[in-house]
Amino acid sequence: MARKQRLRAAPRLTPRATRRAPRHGSIRFFGAAVPADSLREEVIEGLSRFPKTLPPKYFYDGEGSRLFETICRLPEYYLTRAELALTRRHLEEIARFAGRGCELIEYGSGASLKTRALIRRLRPARYVAVDISESALRDAVRRLGREFPWLEILAVLGDFTEPLRLARFRRRNARPVVYFPGSTIGNFTPRDARAFLSMTRAQVGGHGAMLVGIDLKKDPNLLHAAYNDSRGITARFNLNILRRINRELGADFDAQRFSHYAFYNVGLGRVEMHLVCLAPHSVRVGEYRFRFERGESIHTENSCKYSLEEFQELAAEAGFRGVRSWLDRRGLFALHGLVAA
Ligand code: AVJ
Repeated sequence: MARKQRLRAAPRLTPRATRRAPRHGSIRFFGAAVPADSLREEVIEGLSRFPKTLPPKYFYDGEGSRLFETICRLPEYYLTRAELALTRRHLEEIARFAGRGCELIEYGSGASLKTRALIRRLRPARYVAVDISESALRDAVRRLGREFPWLEILAVLGDFTEPLRLARFRRRNARPVVYFPGSTIGNFTPRDARAFLSMTRAQVGGHGAMLVGIDLKKDPNLLHAAYNDSRGITARFNLNILRRINRELGADFDAQRFSHYAFYNVGLGRVEMHLVCLAPHSVRVGEYRFRFERGESIHTENSCKYSLEEFQELAAEAGFRGVRSWLDRRGLFALHGLVAA
């Protein structure tokens, strides 16, 4: 999206509840004190633009996070399986890169299989999960806590696109390694991705590292199918953002009047998701009204794809030294190991 990443003052992290199990690991919850009205503010801002936009991070309420989990298992959505396969295939090297006993910080967690494989092999000193969806975060860390009773877990409810002050939790001697899988970084435009990488580089410091999952450029037909699945789950995921806005902001979107439209923009190297209005009407959001013309779109997501070289160059511009790139057998997806240069 043409949206600039706004680097606001870092939200303060405040402890919520603490559950400790002596002799075992522990799970502690923290809430980033993001303003409660940021959804309202950003929705109104996005719908006031031309063309209209909505930030993709708001897909992930409870229902959206569940729909995304379903997407990850769809036959057309190769991304999750390719990343899991490459993680298993190169687990030894990835673990050697990150270093045993590091502090593993995952952005946009959601207890995936690949994280579990990494944790099992890495035995991190601590695992920090950052996620914007409270229910997804709670389920994820509870599951991990059960599977790895020795693991110390910090669950941070927050928006990782804002500079979180994670430093105050940092284990003094553990090497911080930010794990950012799933090609989530593709939601940023390349220049915002670069800004995000340099912000993260400053957070992990001189001896820190990053593991970044990237969906690679490939046959556009494969990309097209991945975002236009035959069961229509991606369409439901896209439309759910309107239902969420109705629920949480008292809006009156009629989801029936919008159509899921996703395509690969070859020139810009990204899959774009839109919600296209089928009939002219207006929508109320709180005390605001927005007019929609027939054929007008709300641009809800970009999923940028990179070649290996393109991403390595971007990381270098952000001050990282690309050390390794690991691929699945079919060359669909890559995990990059970056160290602060
Ligand atoms: C979670 C952002 C990586 O862009 O592929 C899946 C989200 N959107 N289907 C992606 C998504 C449509 C996904 N990311």
